[in-house]
Amino acid sequence: MTIPDTIAIDGPAASGKTTLACNLARELNFICLDTGIMYRAVTCVVLKKKVDPLDEQGVTRLAQEMQIEIAAPTLADGRAFDFLVNGEDITGELRKPEVEAYVSQVSAYPGVRQAMTRQQRRIGQRGKIIMVGRDIGTVVMPDADLKIYLVASLEERTRRRYEERIQHGEEVSLDEVRRGLERRDQIDSTRQAAPLKPADDAVVIDSDGLSIEEVLSAARKLIR
Ligand code: CDP
Repeated sequence: MTIPDTIAIDGPAASGKTTLACNLARELNFICLDTGIMYRAVTCVVLKKKVDPLDEQGVTRLAQEMQIEIAAPTLADGRAFDFLVNGEDITGELRKPEVEAYVSQVSAYPGVRQAMTRQQRRIGQRGKIIMVGRDIGTVVMPDADLKIYLVASLEERTRRRYEERIQHGEEVSLDEVRRGLERRDQIDSTRQAAPLKPADDAVVIDSDGLSIEEVLSAARKLIR
């Protein structure tokens, strides 16, 4: 029995892609690369350096110069890895609300995408990889052995992301979370460069009403 060597998982915000990918990667002993954190990292550095997120040239230059490293976790704060940019650990900042607010703007720039896609493909070449994002099956790894497109209703995604953020101690309302997800999905799916959409040969899994284990089991059936 052969199993796929490269797996692409795409889908809208908070559809459960990362949870599925991490669980599968553990079972298969594969690397899991969440490409969303790379775009979050660019956004984080842009905000830190006080570059205007609307300045496409400035943002693109920063993305092209960024040295990204993913290393084993050095802190026991629930993180799965240390994410270093130019040697600085920014793991704790990637999910901050201000990063969330600008990440879709920043990741719509073609030059930013080119720089990230290059790094993602280099990592993907090793094989035994599950890559998660918006354009993995369509652009980054169009030859992936298995492509999954994970969807869930806006209501369900809002509820999941709201619970995550409350658990992280944030003060946020359901309505704010819903509006944030809607806004990001709108930008992600209508941009010119590598918009969010299923690849023609992707298998769609609708996770509405399914538990984490049930989604995992649907993916396992596609793999074996
Ligand atoms: O975890 P969540 O689904 O909320 O988002 P994420 O996967 O961390 O991605 C954050 C943002 O990065 C997305 O809303 C996209 O704007 C962008 N992104 C992208 O453009 N292409 C990817 N391959 C991954 C993320």
